[in-house]
Amino acid sequence: MLRQPPPGLDLGSGVRMVELDDASPEDRERLLAELRRGRGHDDLRDWLRLVDAIGELRVLEGVDHKESIGRVTEMLQHTEGAPAVLFDRIPGFEPGWRVLVNAQSERRRLAISLGLPVEIGAWELMERWERMMDETHPLPPTLVESGPICENVLEGDDIDLGRFPTPLWHPEDGGPYLGTGDAVLTRDPDTGWVNMGTYRVQVHDRAATGLYISPGKHGRIHRDKYFQRGEPMPAVVLVGMDPLLFVASALEMAPGLSELEWVGGVRGRPVECIRGRHTGLPIPARAEIALEGFLRPDRRRSEGPFGEWTGYYASGARDEPVFEVRAVYHRDHPIILGVPPEKPPYEAHRFRQYLRSANLRRELRLAGVPDVTAAWCHGVGGCRLFNVVAIEQRYPGHARQAGHVAAQCRTGAYLGRITVVVDSDVDVSDLDEVIWAICTRADPERSIDVISRAWSGPLDPAIPPEEKGFNSRLIIDATRPFEWRDRFPHAIGPSPEEKRRTRERWGWILG
Ligand SMILES: Cc1cc2nc3c(=O)[nH]c(=O)nc-3n(C[C@H](O)[C@H](O)[C@H](O)COP(=O)(O)O)c2cc1C
Repeated sequence: MLRQPPPGLDLGSGVRMVELDDASPEDRERLLAELRRGRGHDDLRDWLRLVDAIGELRVLEGVDHKESIGRVTEMLQHTEGAPAVLFDRIPGFEPGWRVLVNAQSERRRLAISLGLPVEIGAWELMERWERMMDETHPLPPTLVESGPICENVLEGDDIDLGRFPTPLWHPEDGGPYLGTGDAVLTRDPDTGWVNMGTYRVQVHDRAATGLYISPGKHGRIHRDKYFQRGEPMPAVVLVGMDPLLFVASALEMAPGLSELEWVGGVRGRPVECIRGRHTGLPIPARAEIALEGFLRPDRRRSEGPFGEWTGYYASGARDEPVFEVRAVYHRDHPIILGVPPEKPPYEAHRFRQYLRSANLRRELRLAGVPDVTAAWCHGVGGCRLFNVVAIEQRYPGHARQAGHVAAQCRTGAYLGRITVVVDSDVDVSDLDEVIWAICTRADPERSIDVISRAWSGPLDPAIPPEEKGFNSRLIIDATRPFEWRDRFPHAIGPSPEEKRRTRERWGWILG
């Protein structure tokens, strides 16, 4: 459905909504039928056609990059049910050089990224993800001579990052951030392991950017190893790629696991890559834009401030190493994937809440904590600051064990704050229920533990600038006290399972 700006609204000339392409109704019907069963995709452009077929894509022309794209993105990210939006004909830039935002804020679009049936429910999606994490056998990428990413290859004086329509995402950002929904490839100099992580990239000038990686992240561990040897770190920044690659990049995978190989395993066919001319790193051949270069230990520049996922410009502006771009590869009419952080929950929290929650439950299981029935990393805490796990209590100390492991496992360790343990009758995804459990089952003097000197970093808004690095954690045991759990007052109301069944049978009354 094409909406147009109401007459009389002053948005500047040229703002209008257009169709993605002229797909026939029959084509859309066929795609819809395939999507209901679950269908893979080849790249971001293929993914856009699928999202268009379910009616969740809008294409907007004529929107300015300095203010309006950022504001519209914030509006979309904070509105339930909002579509993905592709900005084209951005004033001041070449037509066809586009920016995609709010891509995966809704579950149906995440399901498309994962190749799952488009109407899948939240709990089933999480089950399927947990299985993917357990059962995927990594497939190394296949090297190819060329691909769409080679349609334009620029080196030396031909590099000009200013040609990309990079928005100023937030009014107080220190500059334009080309890398928000990006994927950064780095190689461990000791083992050769190629990691992919999402780390922000601020444009400094024609051929130089920042590349901010928080302490402890895999890319940062690689960086520190190169810098300790006095060497620059080779890296490739993908800006616009298959959303499945982005999902893998933005989530905490196990150390040593190559996300590129993992994506190949999920797909059942290797990711086709070209070999970077300067670094030898693999570059997905169907990505939109790739910046190849070196992060320099001896060249620093002010990076930030940037609006961050905690909802603040908390890490301010600091001197950070400069990423010198030696080659830019891009497709004709390239698409930037924009995932600028906003006050939580924003887009990345909306899709990662399912995946991080499933990962948290899985990691507890793998750590040997029995009978964890559910876990939820709440979007309002950026899927990090307020995590809840539910257990079927089996023995004294079980709840504390679950809380401490949840606070320190791969998913919970970095920049966490509050971990709550509840009994299995509490719906972990429902904040009202969780707070109710805290208020009625926890007694502060017996129910609280604090872990000090835990893994934090510059982005933590609660830590004074000169003390950043560590923080503390609160573990709230909101389970019925084990010793007298059988005498604990009976709770009113259905179990989460009964509640779900009632909604399935009677939800129609709600309209
Ligand atoms: C949109 C978005 C932006 C992110 N920006 C950064 C960043 O600038 N620096 C950083 O260290 N982590 C950032 N992250 C988090 C990391 O991508 C995430 O922790 C990922 O697991 C890192 O990969 P690694 O575990 O291989 O280091 C961002 C995540 C998202 C979704």
